Amino acid sequence: MEFLGKPRSQRAAFLPLCLLFLKILHPGHSHLYSSSYAGDKVIRLIPNTEEEAYALKKIYQQLKVDLWQPSSISQVSEGTVTDVHIPHNGSRALLAFLQETNIHYKILMEDLQKVLEKGSSLPTQRSRRSVSGYNYEVYHSLEEIQNWMHHLNKTHSGLIHMFSIGKSYEGRSLFVLKLGRRSRAYKRAVWIDCGIHAREWIGPAFCQWFVKEALLTYRSDPTMRKMLNHLYFYIMPVFNVDGYHFSWTNDRFWRKTRSRNSRFRCRGVDANRNWRVKWCDEGASMHPCDDTYCGPFPESEPEVKAVANFLRKHKKHIRAYLSFHAYAQMLLYPYSYKYATIPNFSCVESAAHKAVKALQSVYGIQYRYGPASSTLYVSSGSSVDWAYKNGIPYTFAFELRDTGHFGFLLPEMLIKPTCTETMLAVKNITMHLLRKCP
Ligand SMILES: *[C@@H]1O[C@H](CO)[C@@H](O)[C@H](O)[C@H]1NC(C)=O
Ligand SMILES: *[C@@H]1O[C@H](CO)[C@@H](O)[C@H](O)[C@H]1NC(C)=O
Ligand SMILES: *[C@@H]1O[C@H](CO)[C@@H](O)[C@H](O)[C@H]1NC(C)=O
Ligand SMILES: *[C@@H]1O[C@H](CO)[C@@H](O)[C@H](O)[C@H]1NC(C)=O
Ligand SMILES: [Zn+2]
Repeated sequence: MEFLGKPRSQRAAFLPLCLLFLKILHPGHSHLYSSSYAGDKVIRLIPNTEEEAYALKKIYQQLKVDLWQPSSISQVSEGTVTDVHIPHNGSRALLAFLQETNIHYKILMEDLQKVLEKGSSLPTQRSRRSVSGYNYEVYHSLEEIQNWMHHLNKTHSGLIHMFSIGKSYEGRSLFVLKLGRRSRAYKRAVWIDCGIHAREWIGPAFCQWFVKEALLTYRSDPTMRKMLNHLYFYIMPVFNVDGYHFSWTNDRFWRKTRSRNSRFRCRGVDANRNWRVKWCDEGASMHPCDDTYCGPFPESEPEVKAVANFLRKHKKHIRAYLSFHAYAQMLLYPYSYKYATIPNFSCVESAAHKAVKALQSVYGIQYRYGPASSTLYVSSGSSVDWAYKNGIPYTFAFELRDTGHFGFLLPEMLIKPTCTETMLAVKNITMHLLRKCP
């Protein structure tokens, strides 16, 4: 099997013959959850006053909405955009409430199930990968991603080494790819993780894209060659493996890990609130049923602990920490937990500024950039703050496309443009850190 993909024309030639087969091999689309989101809506609301914000918080709690933006009800405030996913049986109540209170709203998605089905490719397109070449323009299940990693470990042993840094709560291996030309000489490194939050599927798709581009262009692109010759990249395509798996099999909008709680039936911890840095302070919740639950103690989640241990052990040579999320179109750096400027701010700021400019140069997509606290919202116990506090000078969190039109359901058609532009930003940051910051 060729995992780096082939030109489309070549692939298409295989298609007619295989169509019949594929229907049998891939009945139905397992990732469409048999209509469980039919009639659900996604609504954008902007409370104009404090009273409106207060009223919204209350009804969100009552109706148990799935908040898409911001990530917790406590962050709903006057003037900030909130995108809520409201289940079909609650939408009538919410709309009635909005009309009554005169709060401005816009329906982003009338029927979530329809958006879900439209955004993914047809079963026949999906399965083309299994016949001729790996398809980087569809979302892949955890099993597919792990098979892909094993395959690259065998076929590209000159540039790739795959290893495990531990086990998840449910016992899955936490795999990392070490990418770069092997060298006896001391090399600095860049850590990249994707999929801390399960439902942000474009993250893992980007991690795969990055590895593909690296292998395909190592010989032809001087920038990539320089990157792989001078640095190692540690790439963790799926950080929250249990949650990601669950988002394929049960709940497309699952965010947290899957750990159990001793006192509540709700499962999971927000793996981006579980780090030992101002743990469980502002922007994190102590309640196990909340999407921003910080966990019973710092590093309670085996996934967080494994990555933290790895970074602690290798922090001497890791120069950058990059974490991929969605959605908002932002490039964020510390601090998350407070409104303050980091030391050596100008180096980080100029790296972000250039990266965003490089990203925009491809399709004109605009990213905001700045400290996470003032650009997105305050959150404590985040991985970027932790990495920064532990001595990694360049730490960034990307919030990839889009700004809410599709939200977490970014269609597969947009994987390629999103990854293409993001690639430029990552290369730009990497080249920046290979130079001495002025
Ligand atoms: C909607 O249905 C779910 C599951 O059947 C239930 O748990 C929830 O309470 C219902 N919500 C409302 C507002 O009726
Ligand atoms: C990757 O390949 C190497 C041999 O080249 C092997 O020792 C290692 O166990 C492989 N990694 C995994 C996770 O299988
Ligand atoms: C980084 O981006 C800036 C701004 O777009 C550009 O001028 C510069 O050439 C880029 N550097 C690299 C190495 O891509
Ligand atoms: C800031 O830069 C100075 C000089 O380059 C360096 O010694 C110091 O460690 C940096 N501090 C941080 C927090 O990165
Ligand atoms: Zn996220």
